[in-house]
Amino acid sequence: MTIFKTSPNGKLSGDLRVPGDKSMSHRSIMLGSLAEGVTHVSGFLNGEDCMATMNAFRAMGVDIVEKSSTDLVIHGVGMSGLQAPKNDLDMGNSGTAMRLMTGLLAGQTFDSTLVGDESLSTRPMNRIIKPLSMMGAVIESEQGGRPPLCVKGGVSLKGIHYDSPIASAQVKSAVLLAGLYASGETSVTEPGITRDHSERMLRGFGYDVSTTGDKGEYISLQGAGTLTATNIDVPADISSAAFFMVGASIAKGSDLTLRHVGINPTRTGVIDILKLMGADIGLSNQQEVGGEPVADIRIRSAKLKGIHIPEELVPLAIDEFPVIFIAAACATGETVLTGAEELRVKESDRIQVMAEGLKTCGINCEVTPDGIIIQGGQLSSGTIESHHDHRISMAFAIAGLRASGEITINDAANVDTSFPDFVKLASSVGLGISARAGS
Ligand code: S3P
Repeated sequence: MTIFKTSPNGKLSGDLRVPGDKSMSHRSIMLGSLAEGVTHVSGFLNGEDCMATMNAFRAMGVDIVEKSSTDLVIHGVGMSGLQAPKNDLDMGNSGTAMRLMTGLLAGQTFDSTLVGDESLSTRPMNRIIKPLSMMGAVIESEQGGRPPLCVKGGVSLKGIHYDSPIASAQVKSAVLLAGLYASGETSVTEPGITRDHSERMLRGFGYDVSTTGDKGEYISLQGAGTLTATNIDVPADISSAAFFMVGASIAKGSDLTLRHVGINPTRTGVIDILKLMGADIGLSNQQEVGGEPVADIRIRSAKLKGIHIPEELVPLAIDEFPVIFIAAACATGETVLTGAEELRVKESDRIQVMAEGLKTCGINCEVTPDGIIIQGGQLSSGTIESHHDHRISMAFAIAGLRASGEITINDAANVDTSFPDFVKLASSVGLGISARAGS
């Protein structure tokens, strides 16, 4: 077990490029593997989650060469070139890997079994099993739609329209990826806007995806097309950058620039929320790289105030709430979050687990069925359990900047799922943090 300890009174300054975007890294492996030709990926996130996806495609016969930890060469095998894996495919801690892969595997000629770690094995999969079954997929799960998932091969899929009851990019993507193997048109609508990396990257690989509606609500594609290899430049992950946006906002005297961060409008809820709270955040060097917008983000410390977080921003900041809660704990007044029940089925129940941790650190908060109410105050020292959740570990590491004493975070090795070298990079810009092995 890895234990983090933070020391108080740090400030964040200088320049930092956080690791590559997790969502795009997963998708680059999936689409690069199924493309015709050779795809070069730079800026790849070599965290455990994306390595699980990489290992799965290697196990299905795809040659993926790591030129460096962040530069890959993927020798695509074409849409029907995957081979049956000899063993179960281990998705580790990654919901994205499991849900998107299930969509793709539903259209293969061979059977496959997807397994995950303790946290992933408790996460709901009926949300993808239902629409994929409507397409003709045959998927067996444990009781209640939990992993492992056994996906039957050799079935014919047919295109459907799926009106998803939840705003989830993983559900949308699983259906669209199965749609690549389905007859006719597959389309998805959902109750809120979610990240559109699948759609953008499919287009980057030359696949026609149509998005219609004022805000892009109706997404459709035709099955039986092909993907053409391309080059992918993965920007820094805004979800990893978010820890430092909050850190620099709450730590007095901070002035930090985060380089080459993906600012896809379906991901920038954290910037909007922090700005509503009074954060001093500026964007520069805005450019489009490989179909995705990127920018440098400068954050200076500011006095934050509590807000009622607009519900339409929730899906656009879905992974950033643990650290947004830390911002709320350091703000004056009350912050209210509603419409965020999805947080309960992430790597942990992020509402409950964050509330426990905040209370341990002396912050008053009240859990509600779909959110939380946090009273800003003074963070104290305390010992936090991460509950197998990387973003809980990192959120409380950032809290250390404003805590009156040391914060200890147990079971923190999970940061490697999305942010390898977190301790080294965070220390380099001023976070007082150390990691040690514990029992
Ligand atoms: C992701 C979608 C989101 C997000 C996850 C990555 C993706 O999950 O929380 O970290 O890459 O599609 P949901 O679709 O379950 O909201």
